[in-house]
Amino acid sequence: MRTKFAFLVHPRNTLRSDMGQLFGAPFALIPDATWSAAFARLPVPPMITGRMSYADAPDEMVGSIITVPLTPTQLLTLPRTKVQAKISAAIDKARDLGATIVGLGALTAPASAGGKAFQKRTDVGVTNGNAFTAAMTLLGMERLMSRMRPDPLIALVGATGSVGSCLTRLYARKHAGGRLLLVARNRGRLDSLADEVRGKGVEASVSTEMADVARADLIVLLTSATDALLRSEHLKRGAVVLDDTVPRNTDSRLIADRPDVLIVDGGLIETPGVNLRGTIGLPPKHAYACLAETMLLALDGHKGHFSIGTPQVEQAEHLLSLATEHRQFGFNLAPFRSFGKLISEPASKAAVHADQDLVPWVA
Ligand SMILES: NC(=O)c1ccc[n+]([C@@H]2O[C@H](COP(=O)([O-])OP(=O)(O)OC[C@H]3O[C@@H](n4cnc5c(N)ncnc54)[C@H](OP(=O)(O)O)[C@@H]3O)[C@@H](O)[C@H]2O)c1
Repeated sequence: MRTKFAFLVHPRNTLRSDMGQLFGAPFALIPDATWSAAFARLPVPPMITGRMSYADAPDEMVGSIITVPLTPTQLLTLPRTKVQAKISAAIDKARDLGATIVGLGALTAPASAGGKAFQKRTDVGVTNGNAFTAAMTLLGMERLMSRMRPDPLIALVGATGSVGSCLTRLYARKHAGGRLLLVARNRGRLDSLADEVRGKGVEASVSTEMADVARADLIVLLTSATDALLRSEHLKRGAVVLDDTVPRNTDSRLIADRPDVLIVDGGLIETPGVNLRGTIGLPPKHAYACLAETMLLALDGHKGHFSIGTPQVEQAEHLLSLATEHRQFGFNLAPFRSFGKLISEPASKAAVHADQDLVPWVA
């Protein structure tokens, strides 16, 4: 039986514009510093900023979007207890609204160790949404790889994280003989993940330096860094980038600086059978993969927690089968966009450079 769900979000680095979108244009006039100070010092409660329903019962609100009043930097740098108390208050609100499963969107997952901070809660289930994100990111990579020359070197930046580890393992299951460059800051975790996937026949190298990404043909961004980590000097000519991160690890200035590079927005799912009142900063009828995971679990009547910490590949596969079961609502990989704009053939022809020998892109 279907249950109710809630999904936690937070303002992005575009704080003023996000708050203006949520509460009306005058709020976009308040400077970022004032918003940040208010979030840090005042007891601003979690806010319901969206309501969701399914197309087959449009009047029945089954999902709530709840905004945690913290900036990306605050989520990762304020004292853990303070941050997790704010996220926990949002989970309380979700439970009071009748949700049985709560998805931890964007940096609310890294800020709570992938949801481990809430593992002891028994009043409501929690999922970090990263199993379905990993599964759909692999589909996105495969769609891009089908247009690239054979045997590309793929850099997974943030490979040891919750999405990253699950994705690395899913890739290794299907692509023995593939070439991965695993990138993060902690060398020990990288070495251990690389050893594991070498055992599955993947040719894996590791690096703690972004400069090494310049060797890769396809770069998948999966870090919890709050700013634009990937710069022009990290990109080889004709590289293709799939950016899953929220807030993004790529800056739109890269488009002008590097017209030879294709930057694709990752982790976006089409949900034509789902209605949203409010905004999550995406085109209509689109959802983040982690929100889609939360919806799938609610549609399945799931009880208890699901993806906590690093999800198992079996959990990702279970969600793929739920997506097939509930395909009347969508749940398929969205046509590719770059910084929100649908990738049209002429733009991508320019971006998909001859160096890569790619067939012309058709979105
Ligand atoms: N589009 C979607 O639907 C969707 C869904 C889920 C998550 N996400 C996004 O995916 C990202 C990752 O989430 P997560 O839960 O997997 O985070 P996580 O578990 O905290 O993992 C973060 C990874 O990034 C690495 N990292 C952090 N800062 C780095 C830096 N400055 N340079 C290089 N590596 C760095 C970490 O390893 P080290 O600490 O060793 O560096 C780790 O491997 C977030 O931006 C999140 O919002 C998007």
